[in-house]
Amino acid sequence: MEISVMNFKGGQGKTSIALNLAYSFDYGIVANETYTVLKNHLDDNHLLITTDAIPSGLDDVIYDFGGGITKHMTDALKRSHVVIIPFVVEQANVEVTIEAINSVLPLNKNIILVPNKIKATDKDYQILLDTLKEFGFDHLPICPIRSSMALQNIFTEHKTIEQMQAEGGLNGFNYRKVSEDFNNLIKLINTINTMKGDK
Ligand SMILES: Nc1ncnc2c1ncn2[C@@H]1O[C@H](COP(=O)(O)OP(=O)(O)OP(=O)(O)O)[C@@H](O)[C@H]1O
Ligand SMILES: [Mg+2]
Repeated sequence: MEISVMNFKGGQGKTSIALNLAYSFDYGIVANETYTVLKNHLDDNHLLITTDAIPSGLDDVIYDFGGGITKHMTDALKRSHVVIIPFVVEQANVEVTIEAINSVLPLNKNIILVPNKIKATDKDYQILLDTLKEFGFDHLPICPIRSSMALQNIFTEHKTIEQMQAEGGLNGFNYRKVSEDFNNLIKLINTINTMKGDK
């Protein structure tokens, strides 16, 4: 399966989500940034950094795509079985995210919106749902991920959040909800992948 994780805006959780998915599916990552922290965490067999052409024929891969859509990204976005768009729920991010959705839709309709760093008291979440409805995007699947240190610890532990959770102890207790969030995302990815819908 080819999975894109993209947003125009930085700091939305693309790389963290991409790495957790890469460990979960045992896939490699293609990143389109000249510098990515991933190079400190993945070996050459699991990471390709390129701002040029992206090889076709990569069957099992996560694309970590930041910035605008370049001509090199277009085919990978079209081929992707699913395009995940993570964003932190604040007005400025939602505006950029609406632009990102509008740019991806002509290439690929299998979008999953991932509101990220959600806090229990997030009042902006309802405003987000209203905004998505206003723009006609309330039909897109939404899979929120809560705010958790687990996202940072993927990089230090080199394990999925689910693995860290399963080890028990304090992390086991603390990470059970965020681990469920990722399991929901993975289920949704697998469901969309098995549906033979139009891209
Ligand atoms: N659910 C979350 N809870 C808490 N912190 C998070 C969460 N998701 C991401 N972060 C933190 O937010 C920061 C940005 O995340 P990340 O680097 O994955 O974003 P990005 O979209 O790839 O950014 P960039 O555009 O710089 O590549 C990191 O410090 C990361 O640990
Ligand atoms: Mg990144």
